[in-house]
Amino acid sequence: MASTRPVFPTRSRVPERRLPLNAPVRAWALSEWALLPLRIFLGATFVYASLQKLANPNFFHVASPISIQAQMLASSRVSPIRFLLSHLLRFAVPIGWSIALGELLIGVGVLVGLWTRAAALGGAILSFVLFLTVSFHASPYFTGADIVFFFAWLPFVLAGGGTRLSVDAWIATRAAKAEAAPAPGLVPVPFATIQQLCGHFNRGRCNAREGLRCEAAVCPVLLGPRAPFISRVSIDAVERRSLVLGTAAAAMIGGTAVLGAAAVAGVGRAIGGAKPASGPNQLGAPASSSGTTPSTSTPASTPASTSGPSASALGTLLGPVKDVPVGQAAQFQIPSSGDPGIVVQPVKGQFEAYNAVCPHAGCTVGYYAANQVLACPCHGSEFQLTTGAVLMGPAPHGLTKLTVVEGPDGNLYLK
Ligand code: FES
Repeated sequence: MASTRPVFPTRSRVPERRLPLNAPVRAWALSEWALLPLRIFLGATFVYASLQKLANPNFFHVASPISIQAQMLASSRVSPIRFLLSHLLRFAVPIGWSIALGELLIGVGVLVGLWTRAAALGGAILSFVLFLTVSFHASPYFTGADIVFFFAWLPFVLAGGGTRLSVDAWIATRAAKAEAAPAPGLVPVPFATIQQLCGHFNRGRCNAREGLRCEAAVCPVLLGPRAPFISRVSIDAVERRSLVLGTAAAAMIGGTAVLGAAAVAGVGRAIGGAKPASGPNQLGAPASSSGTTPSTSTPASTPASTSGPSASALGTLLGPVKDVPVGQAAQFQIPSSGDPGIVVQPVKGQFEAYNAVCPHAGCTVGYYAANQVLACPCHGSEFQLTTGAVLMGPAPHGLTKLTVVEGPDGNLYLK
């Protein structure tokens, strides 16, 4: 039977005015153009976040106060999924690598528009997990960036990344060309309107195309005589070819990104020279517990000697001074509240102590000896060592200062 393709009138075409990047006039009103800045921002931010982690050895050094281990420890105190975090603490370093590489692949994928929807889904999941772990108690809630990132990813999860500056679109065009099919493109008119007006729409099928599925990419009303009459076989071939090309591109670009990140990490470690920071000791804990594996809370143990002035006169006994060597910090539990406390001995005989709960979202701050500051591992707030004042946000105010004195018996007391 002969094909009954309808003939639609054609008009002589005046060259269309275009904007830079071949954007149509009023491109800002089209979602795929309007969302391009957000896509580039999200992709670049995730790549930057990944490289920042990979280039910083302290992120993977469990004893550092800014390590992934410290972040998980801090979150395990306040997160609504703390029961899960406490079980995952032993895998902190592999989790850190997974996050850094995940951010890299998500960022690169979104930047170049390759498997954008899958990359955006990964970004949304990662942002939501970070929201549950490190931002949940941010106050006001919008000062925690992760919830904002989560919602910023959603348009790309739901609608994809569009066809602009997109490897996905380039592949789809190429695959379609090889199959003599039209390149897919967006039409800024609701397709339901076209279906209503064209008169060929019949329960999801197109009578003008011998009952094939109604699709905008091959719609004779939209494309006129340029509309191809393609069969189901060629539609499947396009999809197969797109999948193969997409897989090859993902492997190639992903591999290149990982190699590039490895180079950045190597250079960062070589020239950054950041020596792994030492972790906090536990005040009053046995000597073997200090150093590499801090625990969430360690109540002060009974010190070796309690002779001399009574403990009640000096304050609450914390532990021996030797647990806080000069230039180092130790953690303790504040008896009155159960909160974590931190005491630092920057110079011999001087003790600076604080409630270690970060005023931003409740993570536990640590002593960053290299910079002589107290630092929060969750969102990077920094506090002055001698006053506890905020040096760098997002913490809205400084740490609560405590008074710790050295007793004549060689122990520290909390006033
Ligand atoms: S909890 Fe956000 S900076 Fe400390």
